[in-house]
Amino acid sequence: QPADAFFRANRPVALTFDDVSLATLYSEILPKDADTSTALSEVLKLSIPVISSDMDTVTEARMAIAMALNGGLGLIHYNMPARDQVKEVARVKRHIHGLIQDPITVSPTQHVGDVLALIETRRFDFRTFPVVDADGKLVGLLSGSTVRERYKSKTVAEAMTPRADILTIHEKALKPDPIKAADAFFTEHVGIHKMLVVDDEDRLRGLVTFSDIDRILTESKSRRKPARDADFRLVVGAAIAPVRLPDGTLDDEKIITHVSQLVDEHIDAVAVSTAHGHTAGVGDIVKLVRDAFPDLTIIAGNVTSASGVDYLAACGANAVKVGQGPGSICTTRVVAGVGIPQLTALYVAAQGAKARGVKIIADGGITKSGDIVKALTLADAVILGGLLAGCREAPGEIMEINGKLYKQYRGMGSLSAMKAGSAARYGHDKTDNARKLTAEGIEALKEVSGSADDVLGNLVGGVQSGMGYLGAKDLKSLREKARYIRVSPAGQKEAAPHDVVEIKTQAKG
Ligand code: XMP
Repeated sequence: QPADAFFRANRPVALTFDDVSLATLYSEILPKDADTSTALSEVLKLSIPVISSDMDTVTEARMAIAMALNGGLGLIHYNMPARDQVKEVARVKRHIHGLIQDPITVSPTQHVGDVLALIETRRFDFRTFPVVDADGKLVGLLSGSTVRERYKSKTVAEAMTPRADILTIHEKALKPDPIKAADAFFTEHVGIHKMLVVDDEDRLRGLVTFSDIDRILTESKSRRKPARDADFRLVVGAAIAPVRLPDGTLDDEKIITHVSQLVDEHIDAVAVSTAHGHTAGVGDIVKLVRDAFPDLTIIAGNVTSASGVDYLAACGANAVKVGQGPGSICTTRVVAGVGIPQLTALYVAAQGAKARGVKIIADGGITKSGDIVKALTLADAVILGGLLAGCREAPGEIMEINGKLYKQYRGMGSLSAMKAGSAARYGHDKTDNARKLTAEGIEALKEVSGSADDVLGNLVGGVQSGMGYLGAKDLKSLREKARYIRVSPAGQKEAAPHDVVEIKTQAKG
């Protein structure tokens, strides 16, 4: 059935991902040709409709860089001092793929023997080092062929290739596309395997290696286009805290100062993330930020109703997050007895979005690529927490328990996360006594799942496969074509592998 007829017929039963399946349709679309690009506003465009959640066990700079390189968006969490969050944003915006920004350097007065010892103790798998003086100026290149026992008593200055004989590139020449610039450099200069980047004062600004560029060029053939801003920087978003004054009113000045610092670092979106977005408090922050920054993409939430979407859109949000309690670490529904199963929530929210022309983001409860396909029949993008928390790019250490590798994953409404700063998201003050804070999330572990590249590659492959089954060439067509069918409990059982003993291949990394 088409969405209108289907959801009318199934009202008031609220449904979630596993309750429905999508009917296959005549198709001329091969999965690999399905276009997964989306937009969160007029200016913020992504090549995959996937956003990493602003949770302190999911998104900091490393995850945000991986998300943008894969064509998505990372939302950096706010359980850290505002200035640290601004630094995380800057790390993403300044990231140049392929450029080693802080290469290991040696000084001309060291001895080759010192360099050999450095390689041994730090276990470097490379032997070529730029040589810089005390001011950071490039004075030479110590090449692997001279880093030998036989030369150990020579100084670096004696063993290096002097500055006059090294080819370099000015940092300005890396723009707009550093990978293209490096590719051209290595093609022109046969046999050169290191490209040293310098500034106006001949200070070393970075290093690009031939093998990294070769690998990136090979990967980029299979990978989706990175999500970049108009100046070729990777895109990134950040959550902003609803900071309040002691009398409970919003601390407008602090909020605006924080957003200004993010804007100075060229932030692409801010997210006003709360458990209950259909509130005056959230509306007021959206209005405040919208008035001060008319062109900034604002994401706000979370809501599960058409009127909630309508309200936040009227306040100035470009995209509204939908989901209350579907998340894998959420206990909102258990604790507060509220929330709507996610697919129905997306349907009602989509009704509000259509009228307002805002975007909808499905946030929480996604455990497999099929859920993303279903969510995208009603939403413009999805937010993932649990599916990314086991990636090596997520914050936190890997721990081993009984021979298995895990990473921590906790709800932002869990007691420990609220104590670290996210209490306001749940309408509490972090200085509240722990007994007064009612947790709406749990602390958990996720099995380590390899790299974000691998995880996103599989998920997006699944989305394209779904689009192929529906004959949808792009996400707009997916939304138009989707036909739903309710699945019985027996049908749900049939949908997953059954009556076999599954052989698990070990995850990489
Ligand atoms: P998944 O299912 O991807 O969900 O792990 C991630 C989303 O869950 C929300 N979130 C919470 N919801 N209590 C809640 O009720 C919490 O403690 C909590 N922490 C995160 C959030 O929307 C996230 O993107």
